Amino acid sequence: MKDGVYYSDYLQLDKILGAQQLESDKEGNAHAHDEMLFIIIHQSYELWFKQIIYEVGSVMEVLAKGQIIDNSPDLYTVNHRLKRVVTILHMLVDKITILETMTPLDFLDFRNMLRPASGFQSIQFKMLEAYLGLKMENRHGQEYYISQLRPEDAQKIREVEKVKPLIELVNEWLERMPFFDDKQYWQGEDTNTEIHPFWQKYRAIYEGSLTDGEKNNLNVFDSLILSSEKKPEWSLSPKARRAALFIMLYRDYPLLQLPFGFINVLLEIDEGISTWRYRHMSMVHRIIGMRTGTGGSTGKDYLSGALAKHHIFSEFAALTSFLIERNKLPKLSEELRGKLGYGS
Ligand code: HEM
Repeated sequence: MKDGVYYSDYLQLDKILGAQQLESDKEGNAHAHDEMLFIIIHQSYELWFKQIIYEVGSVMEVLAKGQIIDNSPDLYTVNHRLKRVVTILHMLVDKITILETMTPLDFLDFRNMLRPASGFQSIQFKMLEAYLGLKMENRHGQEYYISQLRPEDAQKIREVEKVKPLIELVNEWLERMPFFDDKQYWQGEDTNTEIHPFWQKYRAIYEGSLTDGEKNNLNVFDSLILSSEKKPEWSLSPKARRAALFIMLYRDYPLLQLPFGFINVLLEIDEGISTWRYRHMSMVHRIIGMRTGTGGSTGKDYLSGALAKHHIFSEFAALTSFLIERNKLPKLSEELRGKLGYGS
């Protein structure tokens, strides 16, 4: 056999394959067959959480540079890595089916041996939520959130919460979108008005598209899209929202396709995590009914609260209320169309 890297050394399989220590095999306990599956599922989830955090971290690094050059691989890299995250999330949702081959009675064979351990103590999961931008004030069960962690783990979460999260980096990226500030794209229009002429036109078309029951949407539009201030509870500023809406509306132009893909993949991440939360919650209901969790929460009720509240990119989803039909879109100047198209 040739010298060089050896499969099991490289993968450190001695560590990984030696890391399944069943509580039910400890002295005085009765062996519970399904505990092996339970451990391996959790370990594999944690490995995938690690990979997701790695991808998200690398994307945050790209965005934190303070500028993304359109004419460089940056935005492609960001999209590509986040799409990988979405693919992983789909697989993590599917994997719940494997755990569901364990029946409630099988779980009862070892469940009490696990107290007070719980997936609730997964610090990688909490780190991921914080990196993406789930704010403390938006958390369900705040009093409980890090109370079950060892002090050193709680500290790690607090450190991550000090880092500028992905959603803020995205907000800054959107705010940097140059087209509205550049007079060359709006020749013949008065851009010194409080509301940019493009958005004045857009507002009028949007107003015309609303049914009687939707008239209040215009006030929401004015506040979320046209106002000059960002409320503290918002993740996106009106300026960033205008950029995002513009990208969504004119996404058929080549220059906006990657930015649109970026916004879309963020929504897919939210959807992937929510789907996981839903599947996990249903599985929990099926396996422990209305019993409290081993981590001491109300169990299914806690998970249902987290499912309802823990969306991170929902402000992007909300922008779809302000879309208008493609054939009614304000026509862009030739200069701007040139910039957004090929060969400018
Ligand atoms: C028999 C299988 C499982 C049951 C009965 C179960 C039960 C629960 C319950 C009741 C909670 C709420 C906290 C508590 O009181 O413990 C919880 C939270 C959690 N579990 Fe599971 N779980 C199971 C499998 C898994 C698996 C395979 C993972 C993958 C890592 C996982 C990850 C989590 C996470 C991340 C949380 C926190 C969710 C949040 O805060 O929104 N669980 N689980």
